[in-house]
Amino acid sequence: MLAHHSALVPARPTGHSAPGGLASRRVLGDEWARSGGGRGRSDLGRMCRMAGLGSDLSGDEDHPFHVPVLLAEVLDALGAGGGGNYIDATFGAGGYSAAILRANPASRVLALDRDREAVRAGAALVAGARGRLTLVESRFGEIAEVARAHGFAAVDGAVFDIGVSSMQIDRPERGFSFRQDGPLDMRMSPEGPSAADLVASESPDRLADILRVYGEERHAGRIARAIVAARDKAPIRTTLALQRIVAAAVPPSRDGIDPATRTFQALRIAVNDELGELLAGLVGAASLVAPGGRLAVVTFHSLEDRIVKRFLQGRTAPEPALSRHLPSEASPSRAFTRVAGPIVAGAAELARNPRARSAKLRFGIRGSAALAEDVSALADLVSLPRRGPERRRRK
Ligand SMILES: C[S@@+](CC[C@H](N)C(=O)[O-])C[C@H]1O[C@@H](n2cnc3c(N)ncnc32)[C@H](O)[C@@H]1O
Repeated sequence: MLAHHSALVPARPTGHSAPGGLASRRVLGDEWARSGGGRGRSDLGRMCRMAGLGSDLSGDEDHPFHVPVLLAEVLDALGAGGGGNYIDATFGAGGYSAAILRANPASRVLALDRDREAVRAGAALVAGARGRLTLVESRFGEIAEVARAHGFAAVDGAVFDIGVSSMQIDRPERGFSFRQDGPLDMRMSPEGPSAADLVASESPDRLADILRVYGEERHAGRIARAIVAARDKAPIRTTLALQRIVAAAVPPSRDGIDPATRTFQALRIAVNDELGELLAGLVGAASLVAPGGRLAVVTFHSLEDRIVKRFLQGRTAPEPALSRHLPSEASPSRAFTRVAGPIVAGAAELARNPRARSAKLRFGIRGSAALAEDVSALADLVSLPRRGPERRRRK
């Protein structure tokens, strides 16, 4: 079923555009594994153990590991014990991929991640999986194309674990967090404008839109004005510089949450076009899941969850009409026979992993009806308000 790949295969251009630009697509497959994957034996062993193919899940300061969220629930939702071909759209540290492979020795996984570092670090897991795991550096907005190119055109399940990994958020040099100082970057893949570029170049109106829509920030206007006033004096280049500007612009929060939290979420979403990617990924993945197969999505905030909920519910067959005299609402756009969720972490998981606090899992079971790929009804959940050219210009 799996294509055999050379160690690192350069990307085939696709013409699909995103703020991050087109990532060159790299593939780690079994020949990479045979060549040793360019890593030492201890790294390889550690990655496999970390991902659950063995024991001893520990990270260190340089290599903070990501603890998979809602793992048992995800495996259940995917029906992973039954085995089959699966897509892990957000490989991260490979926690889901490894668990799917471990759940059934006949299963195969195609995994994607747009983060070059995550793909590089996954080489050891690819090696340990002996041909059952293919890992591609790609955005999941391109999932359908990537899957078809690798023999995963009809799968038993696809899973998304949306958001950032611990390896991204805990490394100051990636610029996602204001807990430690670092460059104001926030890009998951190396291409495209960084958060510093957005902060330096967007108009005050556009900055306020980003903060209001993607951060649900009620002080959006104030913060945008403070950013513009600050950047007129000196470029805002670091995470702590931005955090201080935001903290000085808004009243102190009563809930103890840092006032910059929403601003950082908003910029991260904008920099990586996260909501546009999510919508494109859902459509692509739903087109790959075979009848009876599962599409499962874990989200971490309400903007993402709303998109997943409306996407799945809008394509799910209604319960059969109570009266046989009532017209049936079944339509070809009802691609899922059943949806479930939100499923949230239990007390034991929350005690182990506080990052699971806001995680929500939803999944749908694919029926045989054709998929409605038109998502224009969801566009308002993804886009910023349209503005005329003169208002977008920087003041
Ligand atoms: C929360 S982590 C996934 C963790 C993973 N489930 C595990 O158990 O290790 C999310 C990952 O998705 C990746 N990601 C986010 N948006 C993406 C996109 N549009 N395309 C591909 N990967 C993406 C991030 O780079 C990150 O590595």
